[in-house]
Amino acid sequence: MSDVLETLPEPPEDVVVQPDGQPIRAATADDAEEVAALVHAAYRGEESHEGWTTEVGLVAGTRTDADAVRALVAAPDSVVLLAEDDDGLLACCHLTKHDEHAYFGMFAVRPGHQGRGIGRRVLDAATLWARAWQVPDLRLSVLNERHELIAWYQRRDFVLIGESEPFVEDELGRPLREGLALLTMSRPVQLEP
Ligand SMILES: CC(C)(COP(=O)(O)OP(=O)(O)OC[C@H]1O[C@@H](n2cnc3c(N)ncnc32)[C@H](O)[C@@H]1OP(=O)(O)O)[C@@H](O)C(=O)NCCC(=O)NCCS
Repeated sequence: MSDVLETLPEPPEDVVVQPDGQPIRAATADDAEEVAALVHAAYRGEESHEGWTTEVGLVAGTRTDADAVRALVAAPDSVVLLAEDDDGLLACCHLTKHDEHAYFGMFAVRPGHQGRGIGRRVLDAATLWARAWQVPDLRLSVLNERHELIAWYQRRDFVLIGESEPFVEDELGRPLREGLALLTMSRPVQLEP
């Protein structure tokens, strides 16, 4: 964890420097197409099978599109964080500030690069950002059928808080199984990520 970031009074506006030197930055509207493509690839694309967890077989649809990403980038109290290497975009997540928590979502690592700790570093960066927003908790939603992913979040100290809502179809996602639900998980942001 960067000492600099630990003491930042405000969310970093430009670049979050990670302990290993890999920069994580806030997306702009110019990144929207690439972010939407990455999110689809990781969540529901054929290539998602190169990763270790996927929504394929659970939900059909694109998950997001460039317009939706642009809306997140432009919204107040909202940031899309990106991790890149010399070849381009590696990972992303979206964070929104609420009164009592920051909501973490659209979390994706390029399938061929999963399992190397990139996801953990993006989650760390989001946690630092939420800490700078001075909200007590980081929250997220996870599909009830994704047991391996729930276990991953539990290993990161997230707990299921007993809240759930049915997965509702929209133009970007169609459930492929009965009984799909989104479970809420939460973790204090002061906890060391
Ligand atoms: C979830 C996701 C962002 C994690 O990114 P990542 O870069 O793979 O994460 P990390 O490399 O930091 O961690 C990999 C973990 O997967 C575990 N893992 C690897 N292969 C696995 C497998 N076959 N089954 C279960 N866990 C596995 C590793 O043990 C490691 O966990 P650990 O650090 O507790 O030991 C990434 O898998 C992804 O983009 N998934 C598709 C989109 C998605 O589901 N997003 C979240 C929606 S809530």
